[in-house]
Amino acid sequence: MSFVPQLNALPAGIAALADYEDPARALTDPATWAYLNAGAGDEITARANRAAWDRLGLLPRVLQPLAGASTAVELLGRKLPCPVLLAPVAYQQLAHPDGELASAHAAAAQGAGFVLSTQSSVALEAVAQAVRLESGRGPLWFQLYPQPDAGVTRDLVRRAELAGYEAIVLTVDAPVQGARDAQRRTGFRLPPAVRAANLQPYPAAPLDGSAGLLERVALAPTWSDVEALVDATRLPVILKGLLHPEDAREAVRVGAAAVIVSNHGGRNLDTTPATARMLPRVAQAVAGDIPVLVDGGIRRGTDVLKALALGARAVLVGRPLVWALAAAGALGVAHALRLLRDELESAMALSGCVNLQRVCGGLLLAD
Ligand SMILES: Cc1cc2nc3c(=O)[nH]c(=O)nc-3n(C[C@H](O)[C@H](O)[C@H](O)COP(=O)(O)O)c2cc1C
Repeated sequence: MSFVPQLNALPAGIAALADYEDPARALTDPATWAYLNAGAGDEITARANRAAWDRLGLLPRVLQPLAGASTAVELLGRKLPCPVLLAPVAYQQLAHPDGELASAHAAAAQGAGFVLSTQSSVALEAVAQAVRLESGRGPLWFQLYPQPDAGVTRDLVRRAELAGYEAIVLTVDAPVQGARDAQRRTGFRLPPAVRAANLQPYPAAPLDGSAGLLERVALAPTWSDVEALVDATRLPVILKGLLHPEDAREAVRVGAAAVIVSNHGGRNLDTTPATARMLPRVAQAVAGDIPVLVDGGIRRGTDVLKALALGARAVLVGRPLVWALAAAGALGVAHALRLLRDELESAMALSGCVNLQRVCGGLLLAD
């Protein structure tokens, strides 16, 4: 686990999100770094996510009237100043002692949406309480990993409702963990000081780490569980972690409020296609019935613009904000979010795009 000597200063020479990677790595022990950063297996999907955004070119229109340009978008009844949310990332105290409190404050300061993981190292109530009164904060969503005991899952949803979370993000691409080879190679173990704070009130899950894969999958949620969840909560239910257009149609059918095209940042099933490849197909299948969001490999304002041109309403960012958190705490995360927004504004102006509610698909040129 890392204890960061310089918590309140930005490292020198940061011009873009990727610049946070090296300082973060330098401050983090190799096993923790493997947890925070590695992809599953051979990391083919993790690399493909990034490469797919790079392969898309932006084809600018010149001499467009740019007056009134805005990065604002509407999402589930909320106006976001910028279409960026912090992806749910477990155990953020591994990166910085302030963990999720730091990143939630940074998100609030920048008006970005924040998604808190079930496996947060700070309890969901404490995070909500910390940012509740911050004016201009973005939406606060709770990411749900269904628990082996259905009663615990119901209780987590009830607690999120009571604490003021505005949506439940049900992660559907992780019924079991993928091949975390880098973690095994480095011998990563969660240190005793970092815990899944939301799960502390409940008895230990009946299936411990020694349970076999087939015992675990027997408890994995199915579409009927999603339908039951949609019925059981007054909050919108967003499905995170689908790639197949037919799964997106099914999500609409069971009443999901939005879908997030994601492969878990390449951390679970290696060799799945890049999210940028599947996003347009999912957007076409959903046909505007519900908003489509995307994550995986988004590092630049140009990536955000490309995602919106491919049909996304907003994007989520994972690792770069963990790097910024590890390198410079809340200040680093707020800075990284601001950098991304500045880049997006510049990309919009330089490509002749004034309005993110209607990004022209003709802006993109694939190889
Ligand atoms: C350290 C780490 C922990 C994560 N924990 C969760 C989690 O608890 N729940 C979840 O749905 N996704 C989790 N994710 C996946 C992210 O939400 C997101 O899908 C992914 O990081 C996006 O790709 P990017 O890191 O390339 O931006 C985690 C990702 C990282 C890097």
